[in-house]
Amino acid sequence: MNKMNTKKLYIKTWGCQMNVYDSRRMEDILSPLGYTATENPEDADMVILNTCHIREKATDKVFSEIGRLRDIKEDRAKDGKKTLIAVAGCVAQAEGDFIMERAKAVDMVFGPQAYHELPEMIIKATGERVVNTGLGVDTKFDQLPQESLNHGAAAFLSVQEGCDKFCTFCVVPYTRGAEYSRPVTQILNEAQKLADAGAIEITLLGQNVNAFHGEGPDGKIWTLARLIEELAHIKVIERIRYTTSHPCDMQEDLIFAHRDIPKLMPYLHLPVQSGSNKILKAMNRKHTAESYLEILDNVRKVRPDIAFSSDFIVGFPGETDQDFEDTMEVVKKVGYQSAYSFKYSPRPGTPAAAMQAAIVREEIKGERLTRLQGLLNSEFLKFNQKYVGQIMPVLFERKSEKSGNLQGRTPYNQSVTVAANDRLIGQIVDVAINHASPSNLRGDVVTVEMVAKSA
Ligand code: 5AD
Ligand code: SF4
Repeated sequence: MNKMNTKKLYIKTWGCQMNVYDSRRMEDILSPLGYTATENPEDADMVILNTCHIREKATDKVFSEIGRLRDIKEDRAKDGKKTLIAVAGCVAQAEGDFIMERAKAVDMVFGPQAYHELPEMIIKATGERVVNTGLGVDTKFDQLPQESLNHGAAAFLSVQEGCDKFCTFCVVPYTRGAEYSRPVTQILNEAQKLADAGAIEITLLGQNVNAFHGEGPDGKIWTLARLIEELAHIKVIERIRYTTSHPCDMQEDLIFAHRDIPKLMPYLHLPVQSGSNKILKAMNRKHTAESYLEILDNVRKVRPDIAFSSDFIVGFPGETDQDFEDTMEVVKKVGYQSAYSFKYSPRPGTPAAAMQAAIVREEIKGERLTRLQGLLNSEFLKFNQKYVGQIMPVLFERKSEKSGNLQGRTPYNQSVTVAANDRLIGQIVDVAINHASPSNLRGDVVTVEMVAKSA
C-alpha cells in the first residue's frame, strides 16, 4: 500500500457549528494528501486544534491541550514518529504570534481564512514554523475542495461568513472579518452534492446568515429568502434551516418564507442578548427589546406554531438588577423552545472590554445566570410538554448514547430519543411523543397497529 495512505489526522473542535463545518472541510482538504481521521491523538501524524475565541478562557483551554499534545509528540518522537501540531480557528487568528512564542511544540498557526492553503503550509512546516492569519475571505471558499460525500442526513452548508455588525462584546468582526456571502451557484452545487450523498436536511450557516446577499446566477443579488426558495426545489431536501441571525436583518421576505416555503422549518434562532434597552444600546445591537418582540410577533403571525431560540448574555458592563429583570421579562413573553446563555466575558480588543468602570462582579453574574437558566428551563419544558400525546415527524440523525436508541429532531428542532432500529437513521419517521424534559422528548415509532387502534 502507498505510504501516503497511512497518515492519521486528529482534529479537536471547539465552538460553533461554523467550526464543526470548517473541521470537516479541513479533513476534506487533507484527504488527497493521504490523511484519514483518527479519534486518538497518540496515533496522529497531524493534530489540528480548531479553536473558538468567542467566550471565556478559550486561550487557556488551548494551551492546556497543547501541553498534553507536546507530551504525546515527545513520546512519538522517541519511536521515530513525527507529529505536526497546528492551531486553527479564531484563537489562532487573534493570538497566533503569542501562541508561537509561548508554545514551541506548535508547528503551524492559521486563521479561518487560510484553510485552503493547508497543503502548502504542511509542506512549509516540515522545515519551518508557519503563521498564516491574513483576512482574505473572498478567496477561501473558491479554493476549498467540494464538500466530501459522507456527512449524514442532516448536513451543514456554509453560505456566509464574517460580520459587519460590531456588537461591542463580540470578536467575530475581528477574527472572521467583514461580512461575505458566497455566490449562489456555488451554494446550489454544493447543496446538490450533499443531497446526492444522502442529506435530507440542510442547515445554512453563517455568523450573520440572514444578512446573506450573494450574487445569483441572474447577476442580481439574492437574499437568504430567495436562496431558500431555490434550495427548496431540490427534491430530496425535505428540511431547510438557517443559523444564526441578527434581528435587524430579519427582512420581510424571510418572514414570509416561513409562511410560503413548507420545507423551511418552523424554527428561528434569533438572539436578543439582553432585554434592557440601555444594555442593548451599550452592546451596539441597533434594536430594542420592543422591536425584537415585534419581529417575533410578525413571524408568529405568518407561522403561528414557530419555535423561537435565542442567545443571552448576563453581566454585561453596567447591567443593573433592573436591566437583568428586563431580560427575564423578555424570556417570559416569548416562551422559548431553546436558548444559549452566557456570562459576559471581556474579549481583548472589543469596545466592551474597555468599559472598565461598569464591570459586574463574577458572583453577581453567576447568580443571574443561574436564575436565567432556571427560568429558561421551565420555559423549554412548557414548550416541550405541549407535544406530549402528539405525533411528530422526526428525522433520525444518529445512534443515541443509550444502546438500541436513536436520536432525532422534530421540525421545531426539539431533540427526540426513541428506541428504534439503526436502519431508520437518515429517515423522517412519525413518532408518538410520550415524555418531555426541558431539553429532550421521548416517544415511540408509530406502527401500523397504533394507527389502526386510534382510527
Ligand atoms: N461574552 C459572553 N458571551 C458572548 N457571546 C459572544 N461574545 C461574548 C462575550 N464576549 C455570545 C453571544 C453570541 C453567542 C454566539 O456567543 O450571545 O450570540
Ligand atoms: Fe458578533 Fe453576532 Fe454581533 Fe456579528 S451580530 S458582532 S457575530 S454577536
